[in-house]
Amino acid sequence: MFDSNHTSVNEKNHLTLGGCDSVELAKEYGTPLYVLDETVVRERCRFFVDSVKEYYGGNGLILYASKALSCMALYRIAKEEGMGVDVVSGGEMYTAYKAGFPMEKVYFHGNCKTPEELSMALDLGLGRIVVDSVTELRQLASIAKEKGKTANVLFRIKPGIDAHTHDFVKTGQIDCKFGLALETGEALEVIREAVETEHICYCGVHCHIGSQIFDIDPFCEAAHVMMRFIKEIKDTCGADTKELNLGGGFGIAYNEKDDPIPFGNYMEAVSRVVHEEAEALALPLPFILMEPGRSIVATAGSTLYTVGVVKDIPDVRTYVSVDGGMADNPRYILYQAEYHFTLANRAGDEKDAIVTVAGRCCESGDLLGENVRLQRPVPGDILAVSATGAYNYSMASHYNRLPNPAMVLVKDGTHRVIIKRESYEDIIRNDIF
Ligand code: LLP
Repeated sequence: MFDSNHTSVNEKNHLTLGGCDSVELAKEYGTPLYVLDETVVRERCRFFVDSVKEYYGGNGLILYASKALSCMALYRIAKEEGMGVDVVSGGEMYTAYKAGFPMEKVYFHGNCKTPEELSMALDLGLGRIVVDSVTELRQLASIAKEKGKTANVLFRIKPGIDAHTHDFVKTGQIDCKFGLALETGEALEVIREAVETEHICYCGVHCHIGSQIFDIDPFCEAAHVMMRFIKEIKDTCGADTKELNLGGGFGIAYNEKDDPIPFGNYMEAVSRVVHEEAEALALPLPFILMEPGRSIVATAGSTLYTVGVVKDIPDVRTYVSVDGGMADNPRYILYQAEYHFTLANRAGDEKDAIVTVAGRCCESGDLLGENVRLQRPVPGDILAVSATGAYNYSMASHYNRLPNPAMVLVKDGTHRVIIKRESYEDIIRNDIF
């Protein structure tokens, strides 16, 4: 397992997660089962929070990007760790609210927020709304006016950086559904309008350059571009930019091939750029925000499945079908994402088989991995997939009317359910016959 010291193999040759025997967890709670290690989540939160203190004098806030995994238990942990959160929908906002999360530390993103969601954000007293278009700005101003409130806003900017290539491709980024373009002057124009708009309080700018990034340079480049833009805003609109939000996207290890950079290194490098630019441009240091999602929860999560059928097709491949698949983890079918697999009930055994792990949905592409090295599986084995804490439960579907699995929080040998397994009754609860 990767990036975590909290998995091991016990005397029964079973995989342990957060000090719990995973085979026992599968027996007690059934499969498929999401398992989340609280110690790892908190450890990850602290890396981020501490590095803002260490490298930026604490003049910032880490926002957990809750799209990675949104549930009440996670908002509670984020609150206890002194973080803010990023939400992208009324559903995430509502979950945070019901979990008692301090709403002034909630940042609301999205390229197509509905008027109802904007209204809800103002009613709940959300900290910031990250405006994505001029349409949204005008809509928000009119809703705020009706309510006699002022909306505190950031603007999402496309800094023109492609983090997925080593050469920064600075053109072509206009072709993105998120944010306001720098190159065309669109961003500046919209901010100028905001500064002059009643019921809108301009607080700062935001960018997010991508996800699962293993390079520091694109973050530094983004910080450069954004600081220069802050200067332009000051010079042309006379507005002070108090907050600079540099988004998330820090890479994690899904398997042996991935080599993540400690977050402190990102923060140290970005902090240096922001300090240098602030001095060169005679700007005050902005309050910094970062929005890690995957890097908070991914490696804390594992999924347990029961092997149902092993189908050996001579000279072709061996399909190992499990009782979950694309409905609980669509990342292979969507992105050919690679994971690390092990048989939890024979965790210490040699992996002497190469197999294709298939889900149970009526869809040939419903796979969890191909050419996967695994202990030779038989029906009834428990298959563990690691680093499934991010973008698994949050992207789960009900395809084939499969109920969503339960999620169990483990910590130092204890375990408790934080998301109940759906029942068939849950599946039909909104059907009208
Ligand atoms: N902030 C903003 C504005 C974002 O759009 C995102 C992710 C994040 C922060 C958090 O990024 P992270 O630290 O988690 O990389 N479903 C895809 C990932 C989509 C990410 C969308 N935005 C996946 O499973 O890989």
